Order: sequence, then structure tokens, then C-alpha cells
Amino acid sequence: MEIKVESGDILQAESDLAVLATFEDAPLPTEVAGLLEPNDYRGRANQTLLLYPRGAAAPRRLLLVGLGKREKATAETIRRASATAVKEAQKLQVAAITVGVHGDLPLAPESAAQAFAEGLELGAYRYWHYRTGLSDEQTFDVKAATVFTTTDERTSAGVALGQTVGRGVTFARNLVNGPGYAMTPARLADEAVALGQRLGLKVLVLDKAQLAEQGFGGILAVGKGSANDPHFIVMEYGAAQEGTPTICLVGKGLTFDSGGLSLKPANAMETMKSDMGGAAAVYGAMQAVAELKLPLHVVGLVSAAENMPSSDSYRPGDIVRTLSGKTIEVINTDAEGRIILADALFYAQRYKPAAIVELSTLTGAIIIALGSHAIGMMGTDQALADKLSRAGEASGERVWQLPLWDEYREMVKSEIADLKNLAGPAAGSITAGAFLAAFVGDTPFVHLDVAGTAWVDKPGKSYESHGGTGVGVRLLAAFLMEYAQ
Ligand code: BES
Ligand code: ZN
Ligand code: ZN
Repeated sequence: MEIKVESGDILQAESDLAVLATFEDAPLPTEVAGLLEPNDYRGRANQTLLLYPRGAAAPRRLLLVGLGKREKATAETIRRASATAVKEAQKLQVAAITVGVHGDLPLAPESAAQAFAEGLELGAYRYWHYRTGLSDEQTFDVKAATVFTTTDERTSAGVALGQTVGRGVTFARNLVNGPGYAMTPARLADEAVALGQRLGLKVLVLDKAQLAEQGFGGILAVGKGSANDPHFIVMEYGAAQEGTPTICLVGKGLTFDSGGLSLKPANAMETMKSDMGGAAAVYGAMQAVAELKLPLHVVGLVSAAENMPSSDSYRPGDIVRTLSGKTIEVINTDAEGRIILADALFYAQRYKPAAIVELSTLTGAIIIALGSHAIGMMGTDQALADKLSRAGEASGERVWQLPLWDEYREMVKSEIADLKNLAGPAAGSITAGAFLAAFVGDTPFVHLDVAGTAWVDKPGKSYESHGGTGVGVRLLAAFLMEYAQ
């Protein structure tokens, strides 16, 4: 979508559809107030009303969108309102809309504009690659939006940023929504190569034979039972230099998680093509970072495998020797994410990064703890964790920290190997995080469990749609932008 910024009065500019966002209980512009009965529209968050000014204002149609109470309005409010508006525009089949806010926003113009552009990109998103017989009305795309504002320059910068981040999110959503048979580990590797070519990233792909040669025992064990071979993927933006911090982003890329021999019940398996949601966030973030040309050295690392039951699968009771040399007793083959991540986290240390941030759809337990409203966070470095908390508030992808005390690290020790991949039902998300922390050495490390947030069956927010959410991209973009300051 093309988004332009102009100064002027939206009600005096011709338009097929003008979207005017307003605050709750704030008086409407007089030419608008005369078009409706006061009780029909109060400006509550996400409330909409479509009006036909018929000459009372320049636009042919006027869509009022509520922002709720001014003092409670945040970037998230705007993101939702703009997604609601673009969906209406799609339904009305308006190719070019104008947009404005009535009243002063209680946040910086850049942040408001960014959230607005993200809402447009995400609200317009649909994944219908496999649907046929769609009507023109269903597939209609809004092509352009013109924002009316008094702060042109700062708004333009925010819009550009929001569009870049929004495209990163839709990229991640597309990867998650791709069915497991198509979005295999090899396909994820191809996507990385294509991304690298498009944006000048250095990309390294290790196939099964190379993984075996180099000792990636964790990835190999988990991928062993599948005809779709595992891969390890590295995408590098920028270069290690004096004064340029290196950040490693690590993603869990389970292109399908059946549970392996510890097979999942059918209802728990239905959405398991989304078990590469962490990897997808890394892809989306790498794209955004490269497009924004941030002054950082960012390395994206993805362990990609498919977890399947077969006569060749790894078994409960097996002992896996990881890249680090540390051994893992396999208690349950469905706790596979931590095993493939062990190799990636150890590998990441060769870049001597200032921080490792890892994202994974790791545990069902995080859904029990936080539902779908927060990402579970555990970390070994409080300053780094605090940076992610701030990025969570700024991006609307909030994180909630859980402890990684020594007692939890004790729980994942094994009698016959260095670690075991399951410690029992207690503190399921934390023991998974404690397991991962055993592979990062002294590097500041944050683990983000996105199992509750990477997928949505019934969208609750206007900028979500059924399937992959692309969670993590907005968070990582905000984190990396602050890091680059
Ligand atoms: N991929 C799952 C976690 C998951 C569950 C992600 C639900 C998204 C939605 C992970 O590999 C897994 O199976 N974890 C098990 C671990 C258990 C065997 C200790 C779980 O959480 O049930
Ligand atoms: Zn699993
Ligand atoms: Zn999994």
C-alpha cells in the first residue's frame, strides 16, 4: 500500500472515503456533528459509523472511527483503529482513502504514524493463497492512503517505519501460514537465501550431511524421523566492527511438530505447522533491520527440522550429544524445541554477541500461565531483559518475565546425561528456559516463549487474522531500534 502524508483539512479534501478518528466524548467537527444523532456514535474504541456527507463536507463517504478516551489512547489504540478502517475500506471497495485524527494525540507523531501504518498493513492482510472462487469484493485491495496531519516530517518518518515493520510482520505470517508439507526445513532455507539476495544479507545453510560433519547432534536427532531433512540457517546483516554491537536472534524452526514418538493427541497437533513461529519472527526482523539499515551487526540463526514418528525417529531414553558437547537425555520427544535450540544457542557464541535473543513456540505451559496476551520472557541478564520489556510496551507486543533461579536449573539435570529434556509438569516454561540457558555460556541471553502468541484461531484484535500472528517482529524491531540509538 502506498501511504502519503499531506497537510490540510481532511474534510475539505475530495475523497471516496475519508476516515476520521475521534476521541470518546470529544465534540465532533461542526460539519460532521450535523450529519448524525449524538447517541449514534460516541467515539468508543473501535466504534465505527459510516456517513454520506452529500456536500456538507468534501469527501463522498466519511467513516468515523473511535479511539476511546483520549487519556487512555496508546499506539495500540491507533493500530487497532487503522486496521478497523482499512477493513471497512476493503468492504466498500475504495482504492484510495484519506485519513485524519480529530483532536491532539497523546503520543509522539512518529509513534502514532508508525502504529497507524502498521495497522493499515496488518489489517489489510489475508492469507488466501489456497482459496478459490473468491469474489471481487473479498479480494479487493486498498492501494493508497493519504494521511492529513500538521506534523508532516515526523509523520512521514513514522509511516515509513511502520510500513517496514508491518511488511516484516506479514512476511512472518506468510511463513507460519504455509502448510507443513510446503514449508519444510529446506523451504525455510530457500526463503533465507531469497531474502539474502533481495537485501544483501550473507546467508549460510547447512544441510543434513554438513550438520553431521560438524556435530549438530541436537538438530539431527529431532529431524531424524522425517523425510524432510533438517537444516541450520544463518542470515547475517552488517559485519562485526569496533563500535557496532553484534546481536544474535535465534529462532525455533519446527516446520511441523507431531510430537514424534511421544505423539501429540490430534487436537494438540492441528496447529503445529506454526511451530516455526519463532523462526518466522527472526526472518521478519532480519528483513526489517536490513530495510531500515540499522547501524548494528545482526545475525539470525534458525534451527529447522520436522518432528515426525518413524522407525528412524529419536526415542525417549536416547542420549543426544549436542554441538556444545553437552549431552541430553530424551525423556519426551515432544520437548524437541529445546534440543534443536541447544545447537543454535551454542553456535551463536562464536559471534561473541553482546546479546542473544531467542524466540520459540516452546511450551504449552506458557499458554496456561499468560494466555495469548503476553510473551513469556526469561533471561540471564536483567539489563537486556529490561530492554525487551521496554520494547514490548513500545511495540504493543508485551513480554512478562519469569525467574531463572538456580533451583530451576537444577531441575533439568539428568542422572545419566548432563541435562534431561523434561523435568515434569511443574514450572514447565521456566524449566524449558533453564535448559536453554545451559547453552549460552556467559553471553547475555533472553528467551521469549511465543507459544501463546504466535497463532490465533479467532482474531481478537482488528489487526490480527486467523493463523500466524507474526508475533515478535514488532518487538524485535523496537528492541533493535533502541539498541541502535
Ligand atoms: N511446540 C510445542 C509447544 C506448543 C504448544 C506450541 C502449544 C504452541 C502451542 C512444544 O514442542 C511441545 O510440544 N511442548 C510440550 C512439552 C512437554 C512434552 C513437556 C508441551 O508444552 O506440551
Ligand atoms: Zn513438541
Ligand atoms: Zn514444538
